Formats: sequence, structure tokens, C-alpha cells
Amino acid sequence: MNSESNNEALNWAQAPVWEKGSVELICQQVIRETADISTFVFQTEQKTRFQFKPGQFITLIQEIDGEKVYRSYSMSSTPSRPYTLNLTIQRVEGGKMSNWLFENLKPGSRIQATGPDGVFNIVDIPAKKVLFISASSGITPVMSMSRWLLDTCADADIRFLHCAASESGVVFRRELELLDAQHDNFNLSTVLDDRDGLLNQEMLQQLVPDLHSRDLFICGSPGYINAVREMVESAGFNMDQFHQEFFNADTIKEIEERTEGATDAEVAEGFEVKLEKTGAAVTVDPSELLVDVLQGQGAPVIAACRAGVCGACKVQILDGEVDSSSQMTLTPEEIEQGYVLSCSCRAKSDLSVNI
Ligand code: FES
Repeated sequence: MNSESNNEALNWAQAPVWEKGSVELICQQVIRETADISTFVFQTEQKTRFQFKPGQFITLIQEIDGEKVYRSYSMSSTPSRPYTLNLTIQRVEGGKMSNWLFENLKPGSRIQATGPDGVFNIVDIPAKKVLFISASSGITPVMSMSRWLLDTCADADIRFLHCAASESGVVFRRELELLDAQHDNFNLSTVLDDRDGLLNQEMLQQLVPDLHSRDLFICGSPGYINAVREMVESAGFNMDQFHQEFFNADTIKEIEERTEGATDAEVAEGFEVKLEKTGAAVTVDPSELLVDVLQGQGAPVIAACRAGVCGACKVQILDGEVDSSSQMTLTPEEIEQGYVLSCSCRAKSDLSVNI
């Protein structure tokens, strides 16, 4: 090795660590994985080592058609290979951010991001015997976890079950097959079905006979997750070992439906929402989502998924009551301390809010 490449290697090894906050990402490469899923490989201007918990997500921020759009995506890369941050993204029909990314993000393009966030990760939920179940681009967080566990030679027994409509729709197929061939503790099954790889009870029992002794991590559409949840629950699975992450267009659709329903809600006199830090106060209609109220006041709250799944919009209620439809990413301690997901709640009384 000559001294120039020696120095280059040293520069990378000594690169500063990014572990929290805003960051400008620069696209290095776009890898086509399937017909509608690509991996975007990012670095930053200065050499950076990316640090996050495998399974976490980052929120991309982009102005599209005059509107600031926030979307959260799980990292598919692993912090055990910290020199790039990879996002594997599905192009969603009508999806503002995903279509923008597929049309605009080329090597050299820049995009703002913030994070990492998320409690669906293998550090906060340490488990040795795991069952990873994913469908379509829901594979990203469990791929990151698998890469991490295998790279670090963790004492882990990984059963990896991926569902797709067809063989060509299996994301990371060649890598998964290689991991299966190379590691005794990584066992892969793919379920192909044109109904998005629907699993059934019998199939699950055959593929994972020791299901009950595993921690189950699942990522996919809400419909898919709920179907698997009901299936394992009815088989007597201990639901404390069931860990889920929703991420896709269906989720967005769900919140839109919830929001539409809310406009029919009975309109009361209105409540006062006060920002503790600035003292600013505003009277709100009880049908308004708290996140919209706060953003309307210029408060620095991020609405990434707007579906109660990413946790980006978390705020603390110091005083007052809210009606909440999701607490998905909150820990019991945070709930105890009054934290809520502002995209998923509305005022039920006057509120004092800490951001
Ligand atoms: S914006 Fe994602 S949980 Fe509220």
C-alpha cells in the first residue's frame, strides 16, 4: 500500500462521528434493487462515520412544489460499516417524496436529513433468538439488524423470513442467499405469493417450529403486520416478544382517513394551546391535529410520517388532556412523563406544551 492510500485509510478511520441531528447528505450511488425499489448510498461533504442503532430511521426533508415534505426511511446499512448511510426506498404511486427522490436524486445531489430515531432496533430491544419477518421494502430495518449482528459476530440465532410477490421482487436476494450459505446462525426463507407473500399459520409453523422461543421483529404495511399479529396471537405467542414497524404509503393513507374523519367531530368552543418556552398561546378547534397547531405557531416540530409511527413529532404535554390515536414509538417512561405524538392527537382541554 503506498503512503497516499495509507493516509486515505487513516482519514476515514479518524473521521468524525455523526450520531444525532441535522445533516446534509450527498448521494454517491443509486443501486436498483427491484423494479420499484432502489438503494440510495449517501456520504457527507466531510468524511463521516454514521452511528445509529440498527433498525432506526432517518427523516429526509425536501421542498417539493413549494411545500416542505418530511419522510422517514429506515437505514438498510449497518453502523458496523459506518462510512456510508444507505436508504432502500420503494417508489410509491402518488408518493411525493419517493417520486421526487427517484426522479431527482443522482450521484452528487444533496438532501437535508435529521435523525436517527426509532425504538424498533436491536440495541433497545436486545434479543439473541430472533425471527425477522418483512415484506417488500419493509426489509430495510431487519436487513440493517442482520448485517449488524453478523458483522459483529453477535451471539444471535437469526431466522429471516421475507415475503414478496415474485422472485424478482425479493430485495437483496443475492446477499440474503449468500448470508444463508455462509452463516450457520442465519437461516433464510422467502415466501412468494402474488398477494404480497401472504403467510399462513401452517406455513409459519413449518418454517419456524420454535416460534415461541423467538423475539419477532416485523416491518411491512399495516394490513400485513396486523394479519401476522392476529395469526401469532391466536397461536398463543407471547406478544411482549412482538415488535413492529409500519412504513409505507398505506400508513399515510390511514392517517389521511383518520384526519378526514376528525373534521366531522363535534366542534366545541375551542381550547387554548400554550407553548411553554415562548409563552405564545393560540385558541384551537378541537378537531385540529396538535402538530398542525404547533407548526402554525412556528414551533420546531417535525411531522415526518404524520401517521403516529416514526416518533419525529414527539412533544411533552405539561398540563391538559389530549385525545390520542397512537403512542406507538413512545416508551412507558415517556408516556408517564406526558409525551405524545403530536401528529396523532387533538386537544381535549387547554394545553401547555413543551417542545
Ligand atoms: S410524524 Fe411520525 S409519529 Fe408523528
